[in-house]
Amino acid sequence: MKHLLSVQELSRAGTLRILDTALELNQVTDGGTKILPTLRGRTVVNLFYEDSTRTRISFERAAKRLSADVVTFSAKGSSVSKGESLKDTALTLNAMGADMIVVRHPSPGAAHRLAHAGWLESSVLNAGDGKHEHPTQALGDAFTLRAHLRPGAKDFAGLTIGIVGDVLHSRVARSNIFLLGILGAKVIVIGPPTLLPVGIENWPCEVSYSLDAYLPELDAIMMLRVQQERMNGTFFPSELEYSRTFGLNRKRARELPEHAIVMHPGPMNRGVEITAEVADSAQSVITEQVVNGLVVRMASMYLLIGGNVSVA
Ligand code: CP
Repeated sequence: MKHLLSVQELSRAGTLRILDTALELNQVTDGGTKILPTLRGRTVVNLFYEDSTRTRISFERAAKRLSADVVTFSAKGSSVSKGESLKDTALTLNAMGADMIVVRHPSPGAAHRLAHAGWLESSVLNAGDGKHEHPTQALGDAFTLRAHLRPGAKDFAGLTIGIVGDVLHSRVARSNIFLLGILGAKVIVIGPPTLLPVGIENWPCEVSYSLDAYLPELDAIMMLRVQQERMNGTFFPSELEYSRTFGLNRKRARELPEHAIVMHPGPMNRGVEITAEVADSAQSVITEQVVNGLVVRMASMYLLIGGNVSVA
């Protein structure tokens, strides 16, 4: 595999290979703290056209943990603000000799275009393209779920995961729904009809407009950020009504099974889709998701541009 653009291009075996490699890297590096020589001499460019905290820092740290040279490029402050096109930016980066471009872009398909337009010789890794996909977030979430498997569960088969909220604008939801489907988990998508995409009935998930009925069945609940910045209309009457109907509060969290975990990809709107009390509770694995993002990104980079060198 040269690029990682969409989880929909991954097989079950390929996904498990990334998760197993991440586990191995986690052990070899003591949770991503030790530096390995694996990508010495390789150059990774982080090309970010959209804001990010977790993903950008995580990719930068992951590349450095593998001894790659890292260049972080933010569209703000670059010649993009003078009108330079994606193509000319790509040709410039190619001329400078990048081995991997990690790209975040507001347009769905931008990573695919970079990978397949013939502008680059390097690998392309999608760090989030508009509403489309965020494959390494879903891989990190799968890594986290695997670490918290219900006692007796055999990998992902038999797990029931609820994905709740603004699915329409969420690349994280799309990548998680398809990846969890590939891994054999049951996914229930829950949200207001206005925030569910057209055609979701053809995705590998069940759909519901009611959260409360499903809480006792869930092994994990993944709350999604209400993405006001992508909304150009009114999708629900008020934040208060949204949080009353679809927000995860202490009362709802108590209805979850004892072993269930609470997830959120971040950044959170505390008090809207999740209360601060639940986000900071013992059931929450939100900061663990951030930590696990690092090792799956190390694994993805290693598998894409590490060649045949060993993990360590
Ligand atoms: N989860 C996620 O992609 O967060 P950032 O936008 O901060 O990278």
